[in-house]
Parts: sequence; C-alpha cells; structure tokens
Amino acid sequence: MASPWIAPSILSADFARLGAEVDAVLAAGADLVHFDVMDNHYVPNLTIGPLVCEALRKHGVKAPIDVHLMVKPVDRIVPDFARAGATYISFHPEASEHVDRTIALIREQGCRPGLVFNPATPLEWLDYTLDKLDLVLLMSVNPGFGGQQFIPGVLPKIAAVRERVRALGREIRVEVDGGIKSENIAAVARAGADTFVAGSAIFGAKDYAATIRALREGIATGNAGR
Ligand code: DX5
Ligand code: ZN
Repeated sequence: MASPWIAPSILSADFARLGAEVDAVLAAGADLVHFDVMDNHYVPNLTIGPLVCEALRKHGVKAPIDVHLMVKPVDRIVPDFARAGATYISFHPEASEHVDRTIALIREQGCRPGLVFNPATPLEWLDYTLDKLDLVLLMSVNPGFGGQQFIPGVLPKIAAVRERVRALGREIRVEVDGGIKSENIAAVARAGADTFVAGSAIFGAKDYAATIRALREGIATGNAGR
C-alpha cells in the first residue's frame, strides 16, 4: 500500500491568515492541502474557489493541492481549478450529468481525477470508473461543514474500496474525509485508507506538529492491525 498521507482541510484554518496557516501545517509534516469548495447549492455552505487556490500557489505553496468539489454543476469550474494549480480534483457523481465526461475533462486538464462518495452513496459508481481514477474519497460525514462526528458505518465501505483497488492492481489513493482525529484514525487505517483528511482536529489544536505526529502514530497502529 502507498505511504500514508495526511491532508489538513483548510476549511478549519484561519482564513484571515490562510497562506501562513498552510505554510504552518506543511512545515508540521502534512503531505497535501485539502481544499473544500462549497457552492450553497449542492451543499448548504459557501467557501472558496479557484482564486484562493491560485493565491496559495502564488504565495509559494509547492505541496499537492487536493481540491474537493462540492459544487453542481461540476464541469464549468474544472478548467479554472486546473489553471489555478490544483493537483487532484474530486467531485460527487450526483453533481455531474456525465460522470465519465467529467473524469476525462479533469485528466485532459492535467489534473488527477477523484470520485467522492457520500455516506449513503453506493459504490456501484465505481463499476465503470475505477480504472480511470487516481483517488476515491469516502465521506465519513455528510458534506457541508467541518467539525462533525465521524460516521462509523463508513468503515466497511473503506474496506470494500481497498479490496477493489487491490484487485485492479493500479495505484489509486483511498482517502477518507470527515470527523477524523487521533482517537479514531487507527480504525480508518485498519479498514484500508491511505489518505486522511483532518480539519478541526489539526487547525483546532495549538501544536500542529504534535497533532500530525499523533495522527501518524494512530495510522501506524491501524496498519499494524491489518
Ligand atoms: C466536509 C469537508 C471536510 C471537512 C473535514 O464537507 O469535505 O473536508 O471540512 O473537517 P473535519 O475534519 O473537521 O471533519
Ligand atoms: Zn473535503
């Protein structure tokens, strides 16, 4: 399995000091920047768009940017995020009229496509898409807000995705998003995740490095139990 990645969700960062916040989590050992895009239409909240992504690149952020689109429609905004410096672009299949076309568009634009599953979204969406993806993102909360409770029913779903990825034999990241903290991350790793989003757990802590270290220890415990 690929080496574990920690992806702080900047949704819980101090937006008035965003560049410094991103620098701080990367210096504290984060692997990629999770960038939550909400449109007050697909989800009941409104956040940040391509201008902010571009501003982070101009600020000097070199780490991969993991754009999680919670917007409907999807396709219009994909080229803007590609130009703004996104690395991964993930979207919810319910938000796109033509899922295969959106995946191809993300790839054509030079980014890595990911598909996102809400807690109640069935994995059948992977039947004809998995071989075209670089990432599968499983939501362990309903999308729209940071700081929600982890939904444990997602654990068997993580295991099912890991098994599909293993059977396919291609490197595809299995990412989990929502309510992850040092107390439950071992179970998420044990189920088969390799990429871990954490918003409030990291940005709500005083010491980012100590928090990321604790998350990594949890992952190691979980992997040992696999
Ligand atoms: C929810 C977002 C998540 C969220 C994670 O719609 O996709 O990335 O901000 O935040 P925590 O870790 O606080 O649940
Ligand atoms: Zn997210």
